[in-house]
Amino acid sequence: MKNSSSSGFFWKIVALFTGLLFVVGFAYVFITVNLAEKYAQERNQRLNADIAKNIIAEVKPYVEGQLDTTATDDIMHHMMAINPSLEVYILDAAGKILNYVAPYKKVKLESVDLVPVEDFIRTDGEKYIEGDDPRNPGQYKVFSAAPIKENNVTIAYIYVVLASEEYVSASEYVLNSYVLKLGGRAILITFLSALLLGILALWLITKNLNKIITIVKKFQSGEMSARIPVKEGGGINDLAITFNDMADTIVGNIENLKSMENLRRELVGNVSHDLRTPLSVIHGYIETLMIKQNQLTDPERDKYLKIILESTHKLKKLVEELFELSKLEAQQVTAQKEPFFIQELIHDLCQKFELLASEKNIVLKTAHNPNKSLVFADVSLIERVLQNLIDNALKFTPENGEISVLVDSSDQYVEIQVSDTGPGIPKEQIPYIFDRYHIGDKRVSLDNKNTGLGLAIVKKILEIHNVTINLSSKLDKGTTFSFQLPQYENS
Ligand SMILES: Nc1ncnc2c1ncn2[C@@H]1O[C@H](COP(=O)(O)OP(=O)(O)OP(=O)(O)O)[C@@H](O)[C@H]1O
Ligand SMILES: [Mg+2]
Repeated sequence: MKNSSSSGFFWKIVALFTGLLFVVGFAYVFITVNLAEKYAQERNQRLNADIAKNIIAEVKPYVEGQLDTTATDDIMHHMMAINPSLEVYILDAAGKILNYVAPYKKVKLESVDLVPVEDFIRTDGEKYIEGDDPRNPGQYKVFSAAPIKENNVTIAYIYVVLASEEYVSASEYVLNSYVLKLGGRAILITFLSALLLGILALWLITKNLNKIITIVKKFQSGEMSARIPVKEGGGINDLAITFNDMADTIVGNIENLKSMENLRRELVGNVSHDLRTPLSVIHGYIETLMIKQNQLTDPERDKYLKIILESTHKLKKLVEELFELSKLEAQQVTAQKEPFFIQELIHDLCQKFELLASEKNIVLKTAHNPNKSLVFADVSLIERVLQNLIDNALKFTPENGEISVLVDSSDQYVEIQVSDTGPGIPKEQIPYIFDRYHIGDKRVSLDNKNTGLGLAIVKKILEIHNVTINLSSKLDKGTTFSFQLPQYENS
């Protein structure tokens, strides 16, 4: 089972390769036989080119303009007795067959095309030319020819077909069997060695393929570290590199999914934990109120109800913030950008926080810049950012402190700073304060209203605006959060 697919592939290629070799082999034999045959014919023509001339030298076929058949018959018979492969014809000036000597009298043509005949005479037999075969119309044979002249005018031709039908079939037989034997042997040797070499090459390729398949199967069965070794100059490097890259991507994706899954689990765990605390407080106090209905004094009852109210506030806040953050993280929220005056927004917000600040005797300062800055951002999301930052500043700054929200505009950007004179953030905490559920510093007195989601929301909102938040903090001196928004004119 292990390598069945690759060995099936191997045999398929071997079969294809063998088939191809057969086809090439047959083409090779066919071409060789044809060439050998042509070679034999050409050789025959060159050797016997002068035969027609010689005949004329021996006999005078025309005596006073009349064909002397007895003389020609005689010499032609003699010639054919010596060389039975010859067929001798006498043609008139138009190519009509006047007389011939050929065994069995199977001549079918009445005349012979003179074009090749004249071509042959003009080139003096130097060129390989085929002419009509009078016994087989439509077939062409090598020949020798010579003109019969009287007073320098051609009155007839001697036309000698060099390979008579019998000779051709006999020579073809010898030739074919010889060439076939030779070709057959050659092709057998070529075929066997090509087959051997081909199969060897295929074996080498499929051997590598088998290795790859084994590794891919390992990967498939969960061995995520399985990679194909990439050899210098190896023929399958591209495949190996592509597979390895793909495997890396898959492993990366799985790890991403795992970490997202872990985040989700953590979130669900934290949420249920955070919800459980205020819920159990509410549950506990309501139970006490019910059981001890008549035994409770009025101040006790008020105290319990206040605690229940605070817990419901916390629950409400937690649910709202979680909902807000999950929407931001799921990228369901997009910034609906519009131009607005940032000073006006800050002024409105500070007015809302004024009461809380005066309760702790904190001065809440905003710079009254006469040049108002028009920024381009989502006004309600930026309001949430500032709300969270001012809320933190107020929450963590001790009584009699100072909080300032300043605006500083440059050419392209408007920088907003929220500073306080609070306890500052310890260096080791700084990398984590923007994480969700991070409730930091033990030095700072935290009531149970904190959810640790405020800064995570701030960071996400600014990310949506492609803006980063900066933080500088000195222990016991104070903290400054700052970020830049684009000016409307330049956006
Ligand atoms: N101005 C600040 N001064 C000192 N510490 C701060 C300040 N702002 C934030 N921190 C620290 O960063 C932590 C995370 O702040 P974040 O706003 O995310 O949560 P939180 O204020 O505790 O809770 P929530 O905002 O959800 O009510 C805080 O718990 C606090 O330790
Ligand atoms: Mg906060």
